[in-house]
Amino acid sequence: MGRASVTLAVFLLLMICGNNVMAASPRINYLLYCSGCHRPTGEGKPPNVPTLHGELGRMMSVHQMRGYLARVPGSNNAPISDAELTAVLNWILQEFNANTLPEGFKKLSEDEVSAARANLLADPNKFRETYWKAYDFMTLVERTGKE
Ligand code: HEC
Repeated sequence: MGRASVTLAVFLLLMICGNNVMAASPRINYLLYCSGCHRPTGEGKPPNVPTLHGELGRMMSVHQMRGYLARVPGSNNAPISDAELTAVLNWILQEFNANTLPEGFKKLSEDEVSAARANLLADPNKFRETYWKAYDFMTLVERTGKE
């Protein structure tokens, strides 16, 4: 490693680990712990890694799906505190889903995220289908009267 890259590495380490005054922002935590799979833009790599744009906002109209955000393995296992994960999830909702959040949406609370995080989802897709796709389907039937 050349001197410049060592300096850069030390600088980055200081920025990331720093002291409390420089606690990582939700955006930085997103870049560090989520963007490897979901990409810096949040678009993911469908169909393997879902996008974090749009649909998460719509999901927030279903109570179970609030906790879902902290129960999927990628969130659940991230080496950050519950408070930091709460901030990252609220950041994602605000940053990538502002247009689709339900009216009167309340941000996730740290208590809510801690409780949800205690229940890692072994099968996220099944849970999603049960509480979200099913809901999606039912509202469609209600709206159109067709199955
Ligand atoms: C190792 C790759 C990886 C990392 C890192 C990762 N995720 Fe994921 N994420 C996935 C995959 C794959 C899925 C699809 C569900 C599953 O199989 O876990 C997913 C699903 C999700 C979902 C549900 C999306 C939906 O439409 O159902 C959310 C929310 C989410 N991740 C948030 C995060 C957050 C927040 C972080 C960082 C703290 C993160 N992920 C880190 C791979 C990852």
